[in-house]
Amino acid sequence: MTATRLVVCVNERLGPNQKSCAGSGSRELIRLLQQRFIQEGLQIAVDEQVCLGRCAEGIAMRIAPGGPFFTDVTENNIPAIVKALREFVPPGSSSVISPEC
Ligand code: FES
Repeated sequence: MTATRLVVCVNERLGPNQKSCAGSGSRELIRLLQQRFIQEGLQIAVDEQVCLGRCAEGIAMRIAPGGPFFTDVTENNIPAIVKALREFVPPGSSSVISPEC
């Protein structure tokens, strides 16, 4: 069974008027997400990927495998992503550890 992880786009498109996730701050957002995971007691890997095909809606990320997709993500969305991760991980999985553990 593949462990649940958060896949985040870190693509940077350099052309004029080409929005991209890295250009919108995805690398900084990854750092903030990882800090929050530590605070929340979550053991979730963050995988960097070059483009998730939703460039105009970046910052883009998804819970994998088979989880929801998030677009236009900002720091303000971190609590919702943490909540989605907790809800997505199958019962009994060791991918998410509750703060009480
Ligand atoms: S640049 Fe992030 S989805 Fe394409």
